[in-house]
Amino acid sequence: MDAIEALLTRRSVRRFDPDRPVSPETVDLFLRVLFQSPSAGDARPWQFVVVDRRETLRGLAAAMPKCDMLETAPLGVLICAEPAREKIPGFWPQDCAAAAENLLIAAHACGLGAVWIGLHPVADRERAVREALGVPPEIVPFALIAIGVPAETPPPEDRRDSSRVRRNSW
Ligand SMILES: Cc1cc2nc3c(=O)[nH]c(=O)nc-3n(C[C@H](O)[C@H](O)[C@H](O)COP(=O)(O)O)c2cc1C
Repeated sequence: MDAIEALLTRRSVRRFDPDRPVSPETVDLFLRVLFQSPSAGDARPWQFVVVDRRETLRGLAAAMPKCDMLETAPLGVLICAEPAREKIPGFWPQDCAAAAENLLIAAHACGLGAVWIGLHPVADRERAVREALGVPPEIVPFALIAIGVPAETPPPEDRRDSSRVRRNSW
């Protein structure tokens, strides 16, 4: 699958085959992809936590409402910011979002499904993940990406809306 096809066909997947783990090679590839993401001033203010222990994933599902996808996902990747690493203050949410999107596309391109679980700026979710995974105070849990072999296949959607596109001026 080329990059354009991956971008145009990716959908959020929220049900996975719990018995098919993501291989260590694929997890390594995802980490390469994450560190390859763009960041303001090339600061790379990220910290990542790879979660593949079933009990821990279940604990995260129990700690947050509407996170049932973590009941079946064999893998979660927590994307965190370490704001002290920033070179241009204020950009860390965008740096983390770029990494999250890269990971979603990489998972889809590998034939896996994934969904972005938003944490920051929802204080209850940030706290739940901080407590469940022991994230230290200077680190901000930004998003958790649930990944696995899909047990559902949402179809691609064409969402173009020409009424919101202007050319050369508003
Ligand atoms: C910042 C952000 C936070 C999100 N948080 C959640 C979430 O907590 N739970 C969830 O099921 N999906 C979450 N999503 C996924 C969106 O619901 C999904 O991308 C959107 O409905 C479009 O569907 P698609 O991903 O299939 O194109 C989030 C997406 C983004 C970008």
